[in-house]
Amino acid sequence: MTANPATTVRLSESELDEIRTLIEQRSAILFDASRERFFSTRLLDFIEEKHLASGTDLLRHIKSSSIEYESLLEQLLTQETSFFRYPAVYEALEKRIVPEIEERKFWENPRVLRIWSAGCSTGEEPYSIAISLCEALKFGEAWEVEVLATDISRRALRHAERGLFRNRTLQNLDPQKVDVYFSESKHGYQVRPRIRKMISFAQMNLIEPVYVGKLDCIFCMNVLMYFSEERRRAILQRFYDALEPGGYFFLGHSETLSNVPMKFESVVRGDCRIYRKPAAVAAQIASKSLAGGSL
Ligand SMILES: C[S@@+](CC[C@H](N)C(=O)[O-])C[C@H]1O[C@@H](n2cnc3c(N)ncnc32)[C@H](O)[C@@H]1O
Repeated sequence: MTANPATTVRLSESELDEIRTLIEQRSAILFDASRERFFSTRLLDFIEEKHLASGTDLLRHIKSSSIEYESLLEQLLTQETSFFRYPAVYEALEKRIVPEIEERKFWENPRVLRIWSAGCSTGEEPYSIAISLCEALKFGEAWEVEVLATDISRRALRHAERGLFRNRTLQNLDPQKVDVYFSESKHGYQVRPRIRKMISFAQMNLIEPVYVGKLDCIFCMNVLMYFSEERRRAILQRFYDALEPGGYFFLGHSETLSNVPMKFESVVRGDCRIYRKPAAVAAQIASKSLAGGSL
């Protein structure tokens, strides 16, 4: 039984279980024992805010309205993020990965480079990616660049699209980069239009299979760690399929693919969790097509 001193409402174990299951089914997020306290406290806050009478009332409320379900979900999401959150990742992106892609795809026409930030929260991650691309591409003007940034949270996306950040969120950034890529205003620091134009924001639930086209890199950092292994496996398979042969996949520091059988190769260890879809797949497909005489 869980109680909140501000309300007289109590949540029984079976009500908690039912809410947990509903959230996992609709949004994939698991609330296991380690997050039990956070989970029940947020539910009781929501009950109080909406003047609900019981756990059963809460369940009826969120099942009868997708807007109310989303409103509860917003309170349960973990949206911690920061600019250049793992500096070693962005160093690898700028010094090794973008130059490798630029060389490998240089003779393609048109030259297109697409990166997906899946679970982008309030935007710090896709803006860091776009800044890294500007820094790393030798012939930037010769490329069509798109950073697709998606999240389940409409609230986080509204913040992200504004591109306006407080001074303290820019602490990880080299002051020179702040000058080049942000303009200062009385409300904070605004990402400059040329960076914002590189990014397309969209609301997306990762458990819904949506076609996003072929990608050179997928960042899905600190998102899948809250999902069950079965969900992770299904989503990783979709990421794998969406990547170009030779494309890269980025996970957060405390995440690993070790218990999910995948054909990804680990390319950078230590401080980074970067994987690659084998480029050889392209050669295999090409040689199969040649053998079958279809080219
Ligand atoms: C901890 S933040 C990670 C932000 C960023 N990737 C980073 O590492 O700094 C996790 C994000 O995943 C989003 N998220 C959680 N479940 C999701 C789902 N089913 N589909 C899409 N996004 C989801 C949350 O809204 C949140 O913004």
